[in-house]
Amino acid sequence: METAARTAPAAVIVAIDGPAGTGKSSTSKAVAAKLGLGYLDTGAQYRAITWWMVNNGIDVEDGVAVADAARKPVIVSGTDPAAPTITVDGTDVSAPIRTQEVTSRVSAVSAVPEVRQVITELQRTIATEAPRGMVVEGRDIGTTVLPDADLKIFLTASAEARAARRSGELKGKDASDLAATQAALAKRDAADSGRKASPLAKADDAVEVDTTDLTLDQVIECVVTLVEEKRAAA
Ligand code: DC
Repeated sequence: METAARTAPAAVIVAIDGPAGTGKSSTSKAVAAKLGLGYLDTGAQYRAITWWMVNNGIDVEDGVAVADAARKPVIVSGTDPAAPTITVDGTDVSAPIRTQEVTSRVSAVSAVPEVRQVITELQRTIATEAPRGMVVEGRDIGTTVLPDADLKIFLTASAEARAARRSGELKGKDASDLAATQAALAKRDAADSGRKASPLAKADDAVEVDTTDLTLDQVIECVVTLVEEKRAAA
């Protein structure tokens, strides 16, 4: 008789990259939950280190100061897709990392090579510790952090669709104006794509999924099918 361990699928690593507003987080969490995998939001880690820099009076435009401090904060990510968590030095920062103050500074901090080195090491450690595998979302997961991922997805969407989704998410806060949201997203994407250290980029072997005209459920279904096809072929 076959044991459960023998029939359990091998651990699978899924890298989901793409710019802001393409549905990366919602898709990644849902795919991880459906397949019983862990979920890692790498953007939250860059936001967490940015929050620490701001809170500790570090000028985020001063690359040397940011680099010198990069190893100081202790960032811990909880990888349950139903309730992902993030702490810095033991403090829950899941809300403050989403403020405009952090969002407007995160591209500067995440462009500093020493920051990327620290966060990339952390991401690789977390990914290898997941017993059944993990969905890891970000900007450089397929190209740099986990180049041997079993499946790489690159999500895209038109600038208008991305801004509409983001401004819907932020309604009632400080970014309800569609044009301003679109401009802010374009600025952040340009900085994330244009930086020297592991920029936002599609890996050569990534599957590109344009989510402009798809519902979230359709995107989730598409990615789940791609994972199942990979597993079947393995
Ligand atoms: O996914 P997000 O919008 O929360 O990410 C916030 C920022 O973090 C994003 O503008 C760029 C940076 N980031 C990165 O440089 N590399 C990653 N793998 C993930 C995010």
